[in-house]
Amino acid sequence: MRNLPGLVAALLFIPSAVHANRAEYDAMMLEQAQQSGCMACHTVLPTPRRADGLPPIAPAWRDIALKYRDDPGASERLTHIVMTGANPRSRHWVGKVSTVAMPPNAGAVSEARARRLVNWLLVLVP
Ligand code: HEC
Repeated sequence: MRNLPGLVAALLFIPSAVHANRAEYDAMMLEQAQQSGCMACHTVLPTPRRADGLPPIAPAWRDIALKYRDDPGASERLTHIVMTGANPRSRHWVGKVSTVAMPPNAGAVSEARARRLVNWLLVLVP
């Protein structure tokens, strides 16, 4: 037990990222979304109606989370859509967002990061 103080000290210095709480997780993922260019088109929360009456460019993360909340295959499918872009002939947000489909993001994100972003935004339900 002579090493006990050392052990306690080691435990106290475990990096806090290992224990990221919800607020830290949200902040970290939002930063990744900004770095990856997602926030040029998307918002976290739905935006108020624009003055010019035009719909938003892209669905808010929260609306995406609500739409797919009971869909266990959503993470896999949406990760693929993020990488390859939305199919202009079978879009999922027609009439709710602008007429331009999401372009492929494979140049901006790795598949692992796309999956992390999708898994994060899918739990952004109220
Ligand atoms: C140039 C604008 C633009 C950028 C940049 C962009 N998106 Fe999108 N995104 C859209 C649009 C528009 C849609 C709606 C497509 C549709 O109608 O199916 C969309 C839809 C989505 C969806 C839902 C897909 C579905 O089929 O329901 C997810 C998830 C998503 N985007 C994630 C991301 C992530 C993550 C990033 C960053 C790596 C990103 N987007 C970057 C415009 C964009």
